[in-house]
Amino acid sequence: MRSSIPDWEPLDDAAQADQVRMYDAYREDTPLARSPRGVTVFRHEDVVAVAADPVTFSSGASERRQVPNSLDPPEHAAYRAATDPFFGAERIAELEPGVRRIAADLVATAPETIDAVHDLGYPFAARAQARWLGWTGTEDRLLGWMADNHAATRSADRTRTAAVAAAFDAIVADQVQRRRALGEDAPADPTTELMRTEVDGRALTDAEIVSILRNWTAGDLGSIAACVGVILHFLATHPQVQTELRADPSGLAGAIDEMLRLDDPFLVNRRVVTCPAQVAGHDLEPQTRLYLNWTSANRDPRVVGDPDAYRPLENAVHNLVYGSGIHLCPGRPLATMELVALTAELLAATTSLSLAADGPAQRETYPVGGWRAIGIRLER
Ligand code: HEM
Repeated sequence: MRSSIPDWEPLDDAAQADQVRMYDAYREDTPLARSPRGVTVFRHEDVVAVAADPVTFSSGASERRQVPNSLDPPEHAAYRAATDPFFGAERIAELEPGVRRIAADLVATAPETIDAVHDLGYPFAARAQARWLGWTGTEDRLLGWMADNHAATRSADRTRTAAVAAAFDAIVADQVQRRRALGEDAPADPTTELMRTEVDGRALTDAEIVSILRNWTAGDLGSIAACVGVILHFLATHPQVQTELRADPSGLAGAIDEMLRLDDPFLVNRRVVTCPAQVAGHDLEPQTRLYLNWTSANRDPRVVGDPDAYRPLENAVHNLVYGSGIHLCPGRPLATMELVALTAELLAATTSLSLAADGPAQRETYPVGGWRAIGIRLER
């Protein structure tokens, strides 16, 4: 049993300048580090072990009940059973042609130099999300909300975060009320279907519907936009991979997972310790807050060897971009389909993607990873 966990401050300016390298350095020095907000878990083996034990390490770490994110066994399973079918293979395949058209339109109208995150990632995420949920016409409202949400999250100002959450609840409430008013004539889309979904033999409450839709939307919009930045930066700096994927796009899903493993923009998720426990040989007291650092664990040389080596086939089995354990991301099939559709359209419409010499190149800061803005040149 080890006794002391070293202190760190992941939010200082030096650390923020390059979060990935900072995590690489800590992970090799120490399996855990403590900040005033909680204990970060860096290594692959430990992150997987914590995620595999939801009884000792509860997801009820936030003040607000979030369905299903903050739930623990046994109630978590009932909500996942009710909502996982929304991401079934057949439904995703049905949605794919429409998402492809959105991607193709955006690529066709993109200028020669773009900021991958703002010019492509955000509008693509908002349009694809609106198409999926049946929220056509809300794209601009969603884009405005994404910008506010991003700014509020970064500010760590609780009043601002609460205001943004309330603004989103209003967007959802509009959608729910419109469908209630239409009754049997409500459109056949996932939102209507969710309103008719039962858990343990009873209808979902309005609060649960809003919470699920918030997690689907927050899960989708920001993450998809961040992933687009990471993927385009990788392709622009690896022309050989572009050539391979243009010649054979069938490997795109695995290739994208590996690009996201190298620079995972979805940094951390929280857990709270429920009883005296050990992680990496350290004793942890009940109520200790843990941060599972996916970005660090994904680059752990103990499992992937050289963390910077692009090896889609070999590393697939270790990939933690979509989490691990019972909270494994249910939206993965949707996210993968959307990211593959956009990347395939972009590669097909161009002969080369490169970094724009005069474009922006700004990294994101905690609690988000990847690029805040990245200039990409499209050659057609
Ligand atoms: C775009 C890339 C995405 C990434 C990188 C990502 C990543 C993750 C990760 C790491 C978790 C695990 C959280 C934990 O263990 O506490 C998670 C959970 C979740 N994700 Fe995603 N996600 C993405 C897209 C989506 C999409 C498209 C949706 C839905 C539309 C979604 C909905 C959710 C939900 C509801 C959970 C909570 C599941 C639970 O608690 O059982 N995500 N996601």
